[in-house]
Amino acid sequence: MAKIIDGKAVSAAVRAGAKQEVEALKAQGIQPGLAVVIVGDDPASRVYVNNKKKACAEIGIHSEEYALPKETTQEELLDLVCRLNDKKDINGILVQLPLPKGLDEKEVIETISPLKDVDAFHPQNVGRIMIGDYHFLPCTPAGVMELLKSADVEICGRDCVVIGRSNIVGKPMAMLLLHQSGTVTICHSKTQNLKEVCRRADILVAAVGIPKFVTADMVKPGAVVIDVGMDRDENGKLCGDVDFQNVEPVASAITPVPGGVGPMTIAMLMKNTIRAAKLQNEKR
Ligand code: GUN
Repeated sequence: MAKIIDGKAVSAAVRAGAKQEVEALKAQGIQPGLAVVIVGDDPASRVYVNNKKKACAEIGIHSEEYALPKETTQEELLDLVCRLNDKKDINGILVQLPLPKGLDEKEVIETISPLKDVDAFHPQNVGRIMIGDYHFLPCTPAGVMELLKSADVEICGRDCVVIGRSNIVGKPMAMLLLHQSGTVTICHSKTQNLKEVCRRADILVAAVGIPKFVTADMVKPGAVVIDVGMDRDENGKLCGDVDFQNVEPVASAITPVPGGVGPMTIAMLMKNTIRAAKLQNEKR
């Protein structure tokens, strides 16, 4: 029986800490603020944005939503980002991705002030993560690190395998494990002998976006398995990248979906917004 790593509980603890930090900042006259920009009417994005606003309200962070129609032009979106860069009561800017077709995500990300980039997607922040001198960590990989810490998982010297090489999860995830002295392998769709590579992992992180991709024969007995996936199975039911039912008996610890990595992402966004408020107040 694997230990089930409870993302809801760890997220609640992180948010409680964040709430206390906000109260301490308010006592110094600093009110952290987050702007969330959503373009178009993607239903999943709408749910994510609502959850982010709810978390802000719970913690005492001022939040502003900018909901733009899907016909918004690149110029209009860049203009909004520039105005938010200059807005004094906004410390963090999050442009919900994916953007509708025709909009250039890369240019939008590069227009966000690096000091307000609470997603840590700006190339300057990505570079800072690479050299281990960062202000912000991307929310999902940072949430995974927090879960590993909560479960007392030793990373130093252990074999860590990350499946997936996205800029948002796979690449920064690998870098954070490396910073903790893990021996890190990144796998992807062209990796040969994927099963054998995964079976070497003491810590296996799945971020592929394919339902139940990680099967029991890919997991070393006693491994820690972290599931970043948010997929739908053949019956339309929410599931992860890991075949939980069959992998759980093999692993020593595992995150469920839902209730694992998902709740951590928003908690880490709250922490980044607080960090942004502190940074911007140091600079004044
Ligand atoms: N879409 C899905 N996840 C994320 C995220 O972490 N940040 C942003 N900006 N968009 C997303």
